[in-house]
Amino acid sequence: MASLENKIAIVTGGASGIGLATAKAFTEKGAKVVISDYNEESGKAVEKELKEKGADVCFIRADASDEQSVADLIAETVNRYGRVDIMVNNAGIGVMATTHELSFEDYQKVISVNQNGVFFGSKYAIREMLKTGGGCIVNTSSILGYVGEPGAFAYNASKGAVNLMTKSLALEYASKGIRVNAVNPGYVETGMVNKEALGDFYDGLVARHPIGRLGRADEIAHAIVFLSENQFVTGIALLVDGGYTA
Ligand code: NAI
Repeated sequence: MASLENKIAIVTGGASGIGLATAKAFTEKGAKVVISDYNEESGKAVEKELKEKGADVCFIRADASDEQSVADLIAETVNRYGRVDIMVNNAGIGVMATTHELSFEDYQKVISVNQNGVFFGSKYAIREMLKTGGGCIVNTSSILGYVGEPGAFAYNASKGAVNLMTKSLALEYASKGIRVNAVNPGYVETGMVNKEALGDFYDGLVARHPIGRLGRADEIAHAIVFLSENQFVTGIALLVDGGYTA
């Protein structure tokens, strides 16, 4: 098992939810973490909060759906820290709509963040990992990359793609010392997924998780830490879903 001590990790969508919990979990393991997000205000607030606790973190603004922005993020990270050891492609968005009413614009938005974001983050991180002899990539997919959900056509498409992109990259770069995995969370309590925001729909979601509750962001972060530490695991889409897909 590899120690995460002094490893250089980038977490996209790191200002909130699962990304923030992952950034925190990495710092607790001694990693240096670049928190990246397109929301500058929350990103800077998180940077301040973690720095006050003694963590070695910095915030770099980037739009995961924009290739140049992601290329700049990787370049700036290398400028500051010299390398990239762990890339967590976590930024993601969702749009719920019946498919015959889904606009192409909304469809493209979801694909561009969730799917293209994984392409860009992987592409530029891999270039650096090839120079330093290896590294690891973890992509945040979803149970909805594994099973269908009515009204989640674009999200299903993007997360299904992420799971297979993960396998494709794992095979392509295994011999270069680069491991690539995905985590497939069940529904996780976040700013948007909670009883207050969702009302009765929330109770319906809970009922679909045999464990009887939704996940916590730190439970997904725990899985991302595992995928980063364990040197024999590559090409998997790890379900962390309270039994949702069992
Ligand atoms: P969140 O909304 O709490 O955090 C997402 C973060 O990504 C936000 O800080 C947001 O500003 C950032 N972001 C959005 N678009 C971006 C872009 N283009 N560039 C850079 N940053 C961007 O959401 P949460 O729940 O933590 O989601 C994280 C990942 O987990 C996403 O990929 C999501 O699809 C996935 N996921 C979430 C589940 C849930 O129930 N919350 C379940 C399964 C997967």
